[in-house]
Amino acid sequence: MSDAVTTEPLPPAERPAIHEHPHTDVVVSLFREIASRAGMPATPSIPGGPESAGAGTSAPTGPASADGLVAGAVSGSQSVSPAGESGPLSPPPVHPGSDLELVETDNSADLPVSFDPRGPEVLKSLHESGLEAKGIDAVSVPHPYDTSGQPDYYFLGGPMRPAARDHPPTRGLPPPHATFDVEAIRRDFPALQQRIHGHPLVYLDNAATTQKPQAVIDATSHFYARDNAPVHRAAYELAERATTAFENAREKVREFLGAKDKKEIVFTRGTTEAINLVANTFGRKFIGEGDEIVVSELEHHANIVPWQLLSGQTGAVIKVIPINDRGELILEEYAKLLGPRTKLVSVAHVSNALGTVNPIEQIIGLAHAQGIHVLIDGAQSAPHIPINVQALDADFFAFSGHKIFGPTGIGALYGKSHLLEALPPWQGGGHMIKDVRFEKTVFQHPPEKFEAGTPDIAGAVGLGAAIDYLFKIGIPALAAYEHSLLEYATPLLQAIPGLKIIGTAANKASVLSFILDGHPNEEIAKHFDRRGIAVRAGHHCALPAQRHFGLESTVRPSLAFYNNKADVDALVQALHSLIKNK
Ligand SMILES: Cc1ncc(COP(=O)(O)O)c(C=O)c1O
Repeated sequence: MSDAVTTEPLPPAERPAIHEHPHTDVVVSLFREIASRAGMPATPSIPGGPESAGAGTSAPTGPASADGLVAGAVSGSQSVSPAGESGPLSPPPVHPGSDLELVETDNSADLPVSFDPRGPEVLKSLHESGLEAKGIDAVSVPHPYDTSGQPDYYFLGGPMRPAARDHPPTRGLPPPHATFDVEAIRRDFPALQQRIHGHPLVYLDNAATTQKPQAVIDATSHFYARDNAPVHRAAYELAERATTAFENAREKVREFLGAKDKKEIVFTRGTTEAINLVANTFGRKFIGEGDEIVVSELEHHANIVPWQLLSGQTGAVIKVIPINDRGELILEEYAKLLGPRTKLVSVAHVSNALGTVNPIEQIIGLAHAQGIHVLIDGAQSAPHIPINVQALDADFFAFSGHKIFGPTGIGALYGKSHLLEALPPWQGGGHMIKDVRFEKTVFQHPPEKFEAGTPDIAGAVGLGAAIDYLFKIGIPALAAYEHSLLEYATPLLQAIPGLKIIGTAANKASVLSFILDGHPNEEIAKHFDRRGIAVRAGHHCALPAQRHFGLESTVRPSLAFYNNKADVDALVQALHSLIKNK
């Protein structure tokens, strides 16, 4: 059967003025700085812009291809296979109709960006804000969008804060100076109330999966008890309720990610499936032999293997951004990897193995300056950092429900609507079609085009409840709390004789991977388990990152906002007892 995509030709979009691009000033100054360090030409080439060779200045007008897409909509080179055949279509513009002019504006006073990827000194900020003095179990959290007197935490927006302020979440903000009461929060999580091997559970495997608040458990059981029915076939009351609940959950995900339209939210099984979706749609359509996909050395296997599979099918080449010995991406090397054959950059926002918070604003900005699309693997950032895909200008963003205190088996892919419209479906079946004949199938528009079969409706409902819960607490509040807990735990672990923390990036979130001299990692994890402490030992599905440090595995305690100082103390005591009893 032919690839009968019913997508309309890309509409000639409004030409965006360069100053509307959230990162333009950042990109220009960064590009100059990186270019001068890397010995590259100092002028960024924006596809379709005055510097790009052969670029027109009008909106895309190329002929519609057989499947309804516009060929040659971007000025980037159309790849040609060695046999001389035309390669895949150039991808749609990063911004539709992006015949951008590079106009420099001096907004440096608004966007104080320095190239140093380390960002602000978090400890100093904590100290200045008085969080240290107040202790971390009940900190008074400043209102996230009241910048007066607010400490400049990197994880609350950093250089992109002005852009983020343009797209504030519309609800769920904690009242100004609300108190973060971790003990009250812990009572919301039934799993945390149990004893394991006679000890209170200390759950420190949050990077793998998180525990669920009662509100999430109730929402899913309520759905099954009352509203269970198929969605989008609302011929009867229950089906209508189920459809409403499912689509309400999509709207909550939209709000959680700061997306413009809920049509940009595709439900998936999680981050892994979301990345595979992009590989099998964007990849199959727009990435051909000799084209390049840029990932980093610290990726989870979920952001490596799908690209390898694609590369095996298409002959595309994978390029890897190296990390330094703190576990930070080397941005100069990243800039050098970007070129005319680069079709996609796909990087983690936060490393699950090292905890590094990557400077994705810069990563996206540098890629967009060359017309390259960017996928952000948000599996580890969504639980800890307020996300706003519009402020970030991410083209795709993936996350998993089970890591943000929601059910397993549900997650989402955000994609800019003009991109999702341009992509072919990847799985066929019910729900994603408008019409099926043996001669031809007509597909739905996104997001349904990518949601073949009966979805995980209860999972989506539970995910919506998890988002409600996070908004109730306030993501900036929990981010500040978690960071103070990380700052509490780090020196305590560092003080343990023979212990080495793996991953010491200046910007870190919630992960404390380590090794301990003379103690195999599995032995440490078993010792913890006997004391009710749940911690993972292994490669954490990030073998290349481990191997950078000459390791095959680490022990990885990882924090969530329901952990407290007592949890950290139990971990530290267990390590001391292990060493003493050797
Ligand atoms: C950074 C990162 N990406 C992707 C994944 C895969 O997530 P999932 O298994 O929920 O699809 C994980 C899971 O640990 C992760 O940490």
